[in-house]
Order: sequence, then C-alpha cells, then structure tokens
Amino acid sequence: MIFMSTLACNTKSREHFVPLAIQESVSLRQAYSKWFDIGTAIPLMTNLSERERDLLFNQFGVVTPENFMKPGVLQPETGHFAFNEADSSVNLALEHGLKVNGHTLVWYRQNHDWIEMSCDSPDAQAIIRERIRQHVSKVVKHFAGRIGSWDVWNEAISDSRNEYFRPSKCSEEFTQDLIYEAFAAAHEADPAALLLYNDFGIEYPTKREKALRLIQYLKARGIPVGIGIQAHYTLDNVPFNFLKDTLVAFDRIGVKVAISELDIDVVKTPKESCTNKMMMGDPYPNELPADVDNRLADQYKSLFSLFIDHSSTLSRVSFWALHDGRSWLNHQPCERTNHPMLWDRQLQPKQALKAVIEVAIAKDSASGH
Ligand code: XIL
Repeated sequence: MIFMSTLACNTKSREHFVPLAIQESVSLRQAYSKWFDIGTAIPLMTNLSERERDLLFNQFGVVTPENFMKPGVLQPETGHFAFNEADSSVNLALEHGLKVNGHTLVWYRQNHDWIEMSCDSPDAQAIIRERIRQHVSKVVKHFAGRIGSWDVWNEAISDSRNEYFRPSKCSEEFTQDLIYEAFAAAHEADPAALLLYNDFGIEYPTKREKALRLIQYLKARGIPVGIGIQAHYTLDNVPFNFLKDTLVAFDRIGVKVAISELDIDVVKTPKESCTNKMMMGDPYPNELPADVDNRLADQYKSLFSLFIDHSSTLSRVSFWALHDGRSWLNHQPCERTNHPMLWDRQLQPKQALKAVIEVAIAKDSASGH
C-alpha cells in the first residue's frame, strides 16, 4: 500500500538503513517499529477472508484473540478444556511472524460456571481459588513458548469512588489475594511471559490510583506485571490529558503499558437510545461524512503523537478490530453502523491511517534520522 514517499528512516533494520524518503511504501507496523509493536484483535483465523488475512499479515505485528481464548471458550465445562481452535489460530499467526497476546485468563464476563464467585464459606473460597489456579496454570502451560504476554485479569477494578473492586460476593482482601494467585500461577506456568492487568477507564484519576495500587501490590510480590489500558474512546471525547498523566504515572513506577483495545466510536450511542438492541436511527449507514472522517483522523493523529512521545513506557498499541466491518462497536451497546478503525468495511485505508502514518514520518524526521 503506497502512502508516503517521505518517511525519513527505515527502522526495521538499523544495519540496512534505507532512508524512507526513497522508500515507496510503508506499513503501519513498519512506521512504528522503532517505538512500539502494533497489534489488532482478531476472531478465529478461519473466519477471516483472504483479503483480511493479507491486511493482518502486512500491517500488524501482534494479535489478540477477540473472543476465542476467553475463559468460557477454553474451558466450556468445568474441568474440560478445548484448545483445538485456539491452537490453529495461534499457530497460523506465529507462522506469519506475528506475536500473540493472550486474552483473557480471568474475567467476570464470557466465562462459565466454574468461575462464578461464591465466597459464602471457607469451602466456597477454597473452590474458587483452586479453579482459578487450575484454569490459569493449564492454559498458560499449554501455550508457553507461543504466547509472550497475557491479559491475566480483565476489569476487576470498580468505577465507583468508594470501592476498590467491582462488587462481588468476595471481600476486597480476598479478591486482591485471588488476583495475586492468578498472576502467580501464570508466572509459574511460564516465567518468561509478560503478565498484564487489563482495564478501561484507568486514564481517570480515581481508577488510575486503584490500578497503581494493584500493580504495585503485584510487583512487590515478584510478578513481571504490566498494565493494559483498553482505550475504547468516543469521538470528540478522547481523554488526552488524563491518558498522558496515566502514562507518566506508570512510567514513574517502572511499569510498561500496553494500549490494548484501541478504537474511537464515532456514533454517540447512549444506552438509553437502544431499543431491542436496535438504535433509533443509524446516522452513518454508508460512508462517514467528510467532516467526521477528518475529526476521526485528527484525533487518531493526536493520540499517536502522544504515544510516540511516551514510547519508552509503551510496549504495544493494539486496535480492537482489523477494520470498520469487524468492530464490536457495530453491535454494542446496540446495532448500528460504526466507523471506528483505520480501514473501512471495503478494507480501504481511511484518512485516519494516513494521519497516523504522517505523524510517524514527522516525528521520525524531527528526531534527526
Ligand atoms: C468484546 C468482543 O469484541 C465482542 O465480540 C464480545 O461480544 C464481547 O467482548 N473489553 C474487553 C474485550 O476486554 O474482551 C471486549 O471484547 C471488549 C471490551
């Protein structure tokens, strides 16, 4: 795909330095290779068309399974594990030189009864403790050597000011202990893997403080822990400054950050405007109007400019879909046509992709290469 002829520096290989000024084309992955990995979420490889696979293999360096490694998929019944489909997709990604970020070992959603929290008695506590340990251990061991980083626990922290964790039947102390045990089991199963706590909203001070507290607790106990900031944003409402403060805060405690599920919702859809899973009206059923498309491009551009400025803290920036047609935002909170990604439904590059590549070129030349 030809975008620019001016990218100043080929960063893939320092030894074979080719000024990008004379390079004909550059992929998203290449454009950012000197700063951080670029990833995306994928459904099963077998569900991708050939053109989608080409897009994936040419433009991205890391994949996160969108749904196929969630707890209820890998352990559909208590004690029964189903690895075949995940194995094929992971192996295919690896064969094409992509890294895999496992998602997610523990979550309060998309699980199966085995994970339901019942903390009523010491026996119930012992059962949940053992089941989490067993799931994490079995899954991480199975993929050890193939999966380099794991979202170990997804979305434990509460959004409300007064609680540490989202409400459950377990005490805060027990929950924190359980989270530690999940990380410890993952670390034991694959000592080389980077282990992430993954959540949304940790840009904002209240939740950020709690995430820092949890990460420091895990770090102090010897876990190689990083943080995943999901980064599901809404057009005209991207929290640039809060995000910046969060990157600085994690940098201060020496913890790497992955931007783990980036997208920008362009259809403002308060849950109340959904009836029977349908939205009242679908503002952009076909193309995105030029002014909205430009705002999307500008906001992606500012985000990537910020990411480059804080690249020493960032290990990865992953999008949460390959292209507009694959985004979960077409279906949640209800059905409508969304346009949150860098490629449209026809797999054509959008202004946003151009903008994101341009900012890499500009920053690269400014840094003197
Ligand atoms: C979403 C998937 O994209 C959907 O297909 C599925 O129906 C629900 O889960 N935060 C996460 C992801 O950590 O696992 C979620 O993925 C999106 C929000």
